[in-house]
Amino acid sequence: MSEGYNELKPAVRTLLGPGPSNVHPRVLQAMSTPLVGHLDPEFLKIMDETMGLLRSVFQTRNRLTIPASGTGSAGMEAAFCNIVEEGDTVLIGVNGLFGERMCDVAERCRARVVRIDGEWGKALDPDPFARALRGNKVKVTAVVHAETSTGVLQPLVEISKLTKAYGSLFLVDAVTSLGGVEVETDEWGIDVCYSGTQKCLSCPPGLAPITFHERAMEALQHRASKVQSWYLDFSMIERYWAGDRFYHHTAPISMIYALCESLRLIDKEGLEARFARHRKNSDALKAGLEALGLKLFADPAHRLPSLTSVWIPEGIEDAAVRGQLLREFDLEIGGGLGPVKGRVWRIGLMGHSSNQANVLLALAALDQTLNRQGYACSGGTEAALNEYKKI
Ligand SMILES: Cc1ncc(COP(=O)(O)O)c(C=O)c1O
Repeated sequence: MSEGYNELKPAVRTLLGPGPSNVHPRVLQAMSTPLVGHLDPEFLKIMDETMGLLRSVFQTRNRLTIPASGTGSAGMEAAFCNIVEEGDTVLIGVNGLFGERMCDVAERCRARVVRIDGEWGKALDPDPFARALRGNKVKVTAVVHAETSTGVLQPLVEISKLTKAYGSLFLVDAVTSLGGVEVETDEWGIDVCYSGTQKCLSCPPGLAPITFHERAMEALQHRASKVQSWYLDFSMIERYWAGDRFYHHTAPISMIYALCESLRLIDKEGLEARFARHRKNSDALKAGLEALGLKLFADPAHRLPSLTSVWIPEGIEDAAVRGQLLREFDLEIGGGLGPVKGRVWRIGLMGHSSNQANVLLALAALDQTLNRQGYACSGGTEAALNEYKKI
């Protein structure tokens, strides 16, 4: 006979990787409240509130602004598969892993993908987009706003203007920016924008907030073929969220409680204050890392406040340092991906995780660990504290 399992008790970590980030206690509490049904009038009110609060965070008036069921990749898949049909030309900026993933997703929609390749660690230049838009009939132009694989924040306005001039829809991945960095969906002329709950929104992974402008809705309504994914078909999901509430799939109730609570917290803090908090903590972290003698990876002109990428010093072993941080400090940071695998660390300061105590913990823990690995360094926390005094 089995003696049974003990209660599940995972370690309590400080999550400063590329996501997930730590979840706000009020959000965890909301998730443990009793379920109501997905068509209960009380739940319908929570859905309405969630849509309203999501519109504020996306800075949009788009009617269809909802959390898709699934993680950020479900948002990516939903964005492409609803507006792209077989044979459509899609222009995609690729300067990191998530631009690559967009190409894969668009190819699976049987689109003709035109890539605009850029250097990892640098922002994409609008000029090649202008040339490609001039030379092709592009239905959708897509870029990643916050490239989590590199820590680059992509400027969007110029590329957006080009898409308007050439009649292309503009699709943006805001997985690592929404709720931590300015995302002005309407002002910047974005037609489809999606995110994920586990980064700057301080929820667990599981939902992909997404917003569709009327221009994108028109493309959806005028498709020649059905959306290839039944689960992510927004012509049906729209009815449940923003129409006659016709059942599509059972909503992940507890995750929607979580998102709603996290959006209430964002509303209370205020978007401006929240963006300033993310900038301030990231500036302090960067100052501290540089004081430790480390070199930052992303182009200084386009550094992302929610994720800082830093070169691993010569002779230091990536896995040994990250392993020690986890074992001794319960601290998670991320490793590099693709061409910078084993060569950079990625330190996230997202949502509830973006605070002064975490910045100082990361710097002190790195100082200890690096010194023990034979890399002499000091002064990280002092430099960060000086940076806090400046602001
Ligand atoms: C920019 C970006 N896009 C898409 C994704 C995919 O999201 P998920 O892993 O939640 O499916 C991520 C995840 O880290 C991301 O950082």
